[in-house]
Amino acid sequence: MYFASLLLAPVLAAASSNIPYEQYILAPKSRDLTPASVYSVNGSVTGARTLTQSSGSGATFHGVSSVTYDFGKNVAGLVSLDVGSSSSSSAFLGITFSESNLYISDQASDATADAGLDAPLWFNVGKGAGKYTPDEKYLRGAFRYLTIVSNTTATVPVKSLRVNFLAAPDQDLRAYTGYFHSDDELVNKIWYAGAYTNQLCTINPRHGNSLVHLGSISSGDDIQLPETNTWWNNYTITNGTSTITDGAKRDRLVWPGDMSIALESIAVSTGDLYSVRTALEALFVLQKANGQLPYAGKPFVDIVSYTYHLHSLIGATYLYRFSGDKDWLSSYWSQYKRGVEWALSSVDDTGLANVTSSADWLRFGMGGHNIEANAILYFVLQDAQTLAAELNDKTALTDWSTTATKLKLVANQKLWDSSSGLYFDNETTTMHPQDGNAWAIKANLTQSTAQAIQISNALKARWGKYGAPAPEAGKTVSPFISGFELQAHYLANKPNSALDLIRLQWGFMLNDPRMTQSTFIEGYSTDGSLHYAPYTNDPRVSHAHGWSTGPTYALTAYTAGIQLTGAGGSSWIIAPQPGNLTFVDAGFETVQGKFSTFYHGSGKGVGKFAFVTPPNTTGDFVLAGAKGSLVSEGGERVKLVNGKASGLKGGSWKLRSE
Ligand SMILES: *[C@@H]1O[C@H](CO)[C@@H](O)[C@H](O)[C@H]1NC(C)=O
Ligand SMILES: *[C@@H]1O[C@H](CO)[C@@H](O)[C@H](O)[C@H]1NC(C)=O
Ligand SMILES: *[C@@H]1O[C@H](CO)[C@@H](O)[C@H](O)[C@H]1NC(C)=O
Ligand SMILES: *[C@@H]1O[C@H](CO)[C@@H](O)[C@H](O)[C@H]1NC(C)=O
Ligand SMILES: *[C@@H]1O[C@H](CO)[C@@H](O)[C@H](O)[C@H]1NC(C)=O
Ligand SMILES: *[C@@H]1O[C@H](CO)[C@@H](O)[C@H](O)[C@H]1NC(C)=O
Ligand SMILES: *[C@@H]1O[C@H](CO)[C@@H](O)[C@H](O)[C@H]1NC(C)=O
Ligand SMILES: *[C@@H]1O[C@H](CO)[C@@H](O)[C@H](O)[C@H]1NC(C)=O
Ligand SMILES: *[C@@H]1O[C@H](CO)[C@@H](O)[C@H](O)[C@H]1NC(C)=O
Repeated sequence: MYFASLLLAPVLAAASSNIPYEQYILAPKSRDLTPASVYSVNGSVTGARTLTQSSGSGATFHGVSSVTYDFGKNVAGLVSLDVGSSSSSSAFLGITFSESNLYISDQASDATADAGLDAPLWFNVGKGAGKYTPDEKYLRGAFRYLTIVSNTTATVPVKSLRVNFLAAPDQDLRAYTGYFHSDDELVNKIWYAGAYTNQLCTINPRHGNSLVHLGSISSGDDIQLPETNTWWNNYTITNGTSTITDGAKRDRLVWPGDMSIALESIAVSTGDLYSVRTALEALFVLQKANGQLPYAGKPFVDIVSYTYHLHSLIGATYLYRFSGDKDWLSSYWSQYKRGVEWALSSVDDTGLANVTSSADWLRFGMGGHNIEANAILYFVLQDAQTLAAELNDKTALTDWSTTATKLKLVANQKLWDSSSGLYFDNETTTMHPQDGNAWAIKANLTQSTAQAIQISNALKARWGKYGAPAPEAGKTVSPFISGFELQAHYLANKPNSALDLIRLQWGFMLNDPRMTQSTFIEGYSTDGSLHYAPYTNDPRVSHAHGWSTGPTYALTAYTAGIQLTGAGGSSWIIAPQPGNLTFVDAGFETVQGKFSTFYHGSGKGVGKFAFVTPPNTTGDFVLAGAKGSLVSEGGERVKLVNGKASGLKGGSWKLRSE
């Protein structure tokens, strides 16, 4: 009750504010939720539907029976039942949860462990009338379907069923600082589902997964009903009052790789950078004396991952780019540098990093002179040089620059396969991974635009019916790695390929009836089954995973073309790539102020274009095919050369075609 009253105030405030395209926001208007509809009834239950109304007359369970409620979208929180007098003191009501309709059951919830299903929550409602709410550690991090089960012959009246929505605890849930709209409704919905997915993955740090069964239940175990697994969300994973985790149902831990997608999508939607900072700080706390950063935050086991180590460094750079908080960066700079040095200690005399730890995003064969690891290292070395210049620390600059230059040269000599237009995974295989090829473009490991286009086309040529394959992880479609592939298509000037992949893959993830129609799944099979190869236990797959939210950032940064280059947006590039969209209207805020672009294509060519950037900032503009001049609000005129202008002052600018 403490939570409900505390959190109601900001929600009401949001209702009166003027948020563009607010109707697309999936986050609830109130943290006090009732289900949207009855999904199914089993046995004799009267008035089941009344529990979908905030003040209904109530439902009555007559003997062994169950009702499955549908919240209409993935939600999260602590359930509470207001129960009347049962006909027997031995009456019980149980609650089960499921994200997907595949795992609706009156005997168990979907899963959080490597095998088996999660135990129902049971209430001995025969004890007497009143409100039944479990301990906070039994909040469920994500579910669309909730089943109430009565397992005795008793008659049990239920007056109300409520869920206290506990995700994104510090947020005013619908007060997004970013928005996106276009003439493609599917694309719009995907942008907002990505934003909402990250809200569900943002939690009170006290509600992390305690990993009860990590190491005790393994994927080979055969756990059959009625045996079910315990689950508790009561491990404190970071400092502060809110933090970003990988997945809403599980693992509810800080994972740096996942953040490389989630962080940017958060920055351009809810703007909840606080939750990103607490997560990053929890990773930096775990840095070893030799500079090595952890695979994941606590309570995960201590494992070395070369790539995830690098992702923590990327997280620090991204956070600084969006927050502009130089004090924060300075306070972590010596740790950051030690992190870079640890990564460089794997670079051997060939000039490439030789990876000796297999841990990555659960792909296989992560070892040796791996292209993904080397592309990410190259990316980090570029960032590191930019940050060093910004902080005026030249001590390591030459070393980083020389190492990066050689790495790029050697990676292209040893790992580029010109006949297929893709990089090999390493020198001893003919497999071309999705991750390393997408990262090679993102990191600018490619040596020309033509080479980037070749990769973009080759990746696109491999798409299947359900999306882009990641052969480095079996028969897998990885929404995580596909998020980087999206960026790669834009960087190769192939915006329609990015849009097509968004429609194909995220369209499937949004609209397939087995999904939640509101949040994005962590992975699935190339044949469209909801089996994610790294796991044997399908009910365990998370349907709200921050690493699957790549389109939200990609659409804002590339389709709408708003990219920050300087800290907090002190400098920027406005570079829209609308592809075949004819209308795009998007924006977000940083500490510097508001950024937005507006595009309306004419039948042929650019048509109307306008953008706004904050005062006291500077930047460049590029829009292929744009002709004429940019005219500022104050009447300043800058002529475009090849669709470009540079050194623009922040302000409101319009394209005037001539
Ligand atoms: C309906 O209830 C019966 C009896 O308890 C049970 O065997 C069956 O599995 C239930 N079906 C569903 C869909 O919950
Ligand atoms: C109903 O479930 C509760 C909790 O698991 C259990 O203690 C009780 O024995 C069950 N009752 C029946 C009749 O199965
Ligand atoms: C979580 O709750 C369980 C069950 O009450 C308890 O045994 C465990 O110690 C708790 N874990 C933490 C980290 O508080
Ligand atoms: C939390 O903050 C304390 C005090 O600054 C620090 O000692 C601790 O390491 C931090 N823990 C995490 C997980 O960030
Ligand atoms: C090289 O790549 C292949 C394909 O991914 C993989 O099977 C092999 O294990 C990799 N080599 C190392 C040393 O990891
Ligand atoms: C990488 O290092 C390991 C361990 O030292 C070594 O066995 C392996 O041959 C090296 N791989 C390459 C590609 O040099
Ligand atoms: C990417 O690398 C090429 C050289 O291969 C260089 O000319 C270009 O400036 C780089 N692009 C960026 C954005 O750094
Ligand atoms: C854009 O292209 C997609 C397929 O690539 C197509 O379905 C859509 O209708 C096109 N939209 C416009 C406005 O041309
Ligand atoms: C612009 O910068 C100047 C100097 O730093 C400062 O005095 C002024 O308040 C800033 N204006 C805005 C609108 O931020």
